[in-house]
Amino acid sequence: PAGYVAAPYYPAPHGGWTSDWSESYRKASLLVQNMTLAEKTNITAGTGIYMGRCVGNTGSALRVGIPQLCLQDGPLGVRNTDHNTAFPPGITTGATWDKDLMHARGVALGEEFRGKGINVHLGPSVGPLGRKPRGGRNWEGFGADPVLQGFGGALTVEGVQSVGVIATIKHFIANEQEMYRMYNLVQPGISSNLDDRTLHELYLWPFAEGIRSGVGAVMIAYNAVNGSACSQNSYLMNGILKDELGFQGFVMSDWLAQISGVSSALAGLDMTMPGDIHTVPLVLGESYWMDEYSRAILNGSTPVDRLNDAVTRILAAYFQMGQDQNYPPPNFDTNTQDAEGPLYPGALFSPTGVVNEFVDVQGNHAEVAREIARDAITLLKNINGTLPLSGNATLKVFGTDAEKNPDGINSCSDQGCNKGTLGMGWGSGSARYPYMNSPIDGLNTRGANYQFFNTDSFPSNSNPSPSDVAIVFVTADSGENYITVENNPGDRTSSNLNLWHNGDQLIKDVAAQYSNVIVIVHTVGPVLLEEWHDLPSVKAVLFAHLPGQEAGDSLMQVLFGDVSPSGHLPYTIPTSEDDYPESVGLVYFEVGQPQDTFTEGLYIDYRHFNKAGIKPRYAFGHGLSYTSFSFSNATITPVTPLTATPPTRPAKGETPSYPTTIPPASEAYWPDNFNRIWRYLYSWLDKSDADAAAAAANSSATYPYPEGYSNEQKPGPPAGGAQGGNPALFDVAYDVSVTITNTGSRAGKAVAQLYVQFPSGISFDTPVIQLRDFEKTAELAANQSQTVQMRVTRKDLSVWDVVSQNWIIPSVDGEYGIWIGESSDTLALKCSTASGS
Ligand code: NOJ
Repeated sequence: PAGYVAAPYYPAPHGGWTSDWSESYRKASLLVQNMTLAEKTNITAGTGIYMGRCVGNTGSALRVGIPQLCLQDGPLGVRNTDHNTAFPPGITTGATWDKDLMHARGVALGEEFRGKGINVHLGPSVGPLGRKPRGGRNWEGFGADPVLQGFGGALTVEGVQSVGVIATIKHFIANEQEMYRMYNLVQPGISSNLDDRTLHELYLWPFAEGIRSGVGAVMIAYNAVNGSACSQNSYLMNGILKDELGFQGFVMSDWLAQISGVSSALAGLDMTMPGDIHTVPLVLGESYWMDEYSRAILNGSTPVDRLNDAVTRILAAYFQMGQDQNYPPPNFDTNTQDAEGPLYPGALFSPTGVVNEFVDVQGNHAEVAREIARDAITLLKNINGTLPLSGNATLKVFGTDAEKNPDGINSCSDQGCNKGTLGMGWGSGSARYPYMNSPIDGLNTRGANYQFFNTDSFPSNSNPSPSDVAIVFVTADSGENYITVENNPGDRTSSNLNLWHNGDQLIKDVAAQYSNVIVIVHTVGPVLLEEWHDLPSVKAVLFAHLPGQEAGDSLMQVLFGDVSPSGHLPYTIPTSEDDYPESVGLVYFEVGQPQDTFTEGLYIDYRHFNKAGIKPRYAFGHGLSYTSFSFSNATITPVTPLTATPPTRPAKGETPSYPTTIPPASEAYWPDNFNRIWRYLYSWLDKSDADAAAAAANSSATYPYPEGYSNEQKPGPPAGGAQGGNPALFDVAYDVSVTITNTGSRAGKAVAQLYVQFPSGISFDTPVIQLRDFEKTAELAANQSQTVQMRVTRKDLSVWDVVSQNWIIPSVDGEYGIWIGESSDTLALKCSTASGS
């Protein structure tokens, strides 16, 4: 459709032009200028699926001191290993609304990845954004809002990289459902069709934040955008990522997402993972790159300049994180839990050796994991002060989610089942639990007076008594598409937005027999509560989200009132699925390429509910406490004067330059007497092949570069200029402060949420309010106050203007409303930019 852009953008912008990366580029270029062709192509690809200890393993360039790089999942902890922490996932972290915890979790994650010898952490996930409530992988990210997702992602990147691990923001971009995500022999992957403004104001926003934080890697999504596969989409990689957002690191494919050799290189892909051709990975051991990349350079179909830039980017990220200094090699194996095993499981016959050294990387990270699980717990409803519980309450506990999976906490590969306490969703974003501290464990530790009915159907023998408090545990799960759980192929197709395992019925049955019922929900995202929410005996409802390994004690601290709950919803809970725009439903089978058109534009989650005037069950940002807070003394201070368009971007700095002549064919010849592993991917060519390729370069048969192709580097678009975009976009326009006072009788933490309302009468349709910043207080004692500082940037007050291709302020003198409150539907204070008051 008109305005849905996928215009070609060539050539791939060189990296190295921002001052914060120049030293790393200098170091990288010193190596690159001395590397042979085969050394260069060897580090741009993985050595093949199951061809090393990590989920991705690049080739090495040992002669110049570059080892194989280990790339490993996932966003909530080291996947498929032992002695690691299973942190709460992104959605839970988002629900804390606590920037310090977001960062602290990143540091702890980084320490664990480094401790296992992993160079590249395959997280955080900032896409999917959560456009589709049933989307399978929303829980890996931080919530259905670009700013919440942006802070979650950027603070994770900063934490992870602070200990020298390269972080990867993924999946770029608009990867909003699981079904049909991949290209295969018979069908192209789903195409997310979206307009340029929606791309910029929603889906790109968190990627821009991660890049501004200096992220070292970006992972390209499986799907297409506007008909063109992300993995060879020059508009997205060359244009948006590398020029407009000034990304200085390297772009990798998602696993087997690459579907072409030359085209993907020209379009800006720097590394292909795990290296194999997507359609025949397990059979042939073939790659679009590796030896084929060497050939493509020799015969002139890919400019040498492009390969040099890709290699420089990868090595620059390596130097930027200091990985040339004492970086440990991998000491675990993602393919097996055994101490010994094949070194190359993907080869039929492989040498064996020690592959798992069982290094304990947990440190004291259980503490930050527990703190996040606890401070994410979101109290939705609490009638008559039912919570907190008194220490001697008689409890009747129902639901299998309250206790560990009886088959074993790691009995399902990649957590591909929903049995026992639900601490995370399934797929590559999971980790093995070192232990599971279940709610029942938590009750035991407390010495609580309870009886547990480990069933999801109401038992006949619970002997209700009027003084009992009943606690019901229920779940909703989802995950990645390669595993189907209870008929849900990643996305929640068959469970809808309902609780799993007849959770609604269990709650209703309990509520019929007990008059004090507390419902605890472990969930990947929104679920419908309507069947039971208003029953008189349902007194309290808590979302504990997905707590990771620390489900139990964290919950007890809230239930028994050691702390007040302080989590807030990172998405809206509707009263009916019909309340969403139709276009955010899942796309099912279509002949040809499935088309997913984002006709709702900017109006997802609360942006939609506000526009349509639909009252949800619980609004985005909602969350109660055991105490109460008042917000006062809002002040707004202009900092940077605004103009309709931002100040002109800085020009690009120098980038490394290399000879552009095609290297001699001999640089790609197989070394003598080399012992090849079957199916392993190598970058060398037979002498005759290499010579033939070199001869072809000098023949008249030139490769048809894409239309409009040029090797001439561009100055870059007006919206660019530094990592994340034009630095002026992040100028603080206004400082905002607000005083929060604990007006209740218990201690608690409050969250201040700041939303911007655009001036009326502007020519851009904008959501009624949009989150732009937030801050969580320390624990405030009764009557205690704290003044929190927030800020509004130039970008926060701008819209993406598709005509000028820039962020513009639609009305410089217009009156913006700056709303502050505890949730998107209880905004207590309004400052206005016009009055400065
Ligand atoms: C595919 C997933 O989409 C991605 O998130 C993950 O990092 C890779 N597989 C590697 O496991």
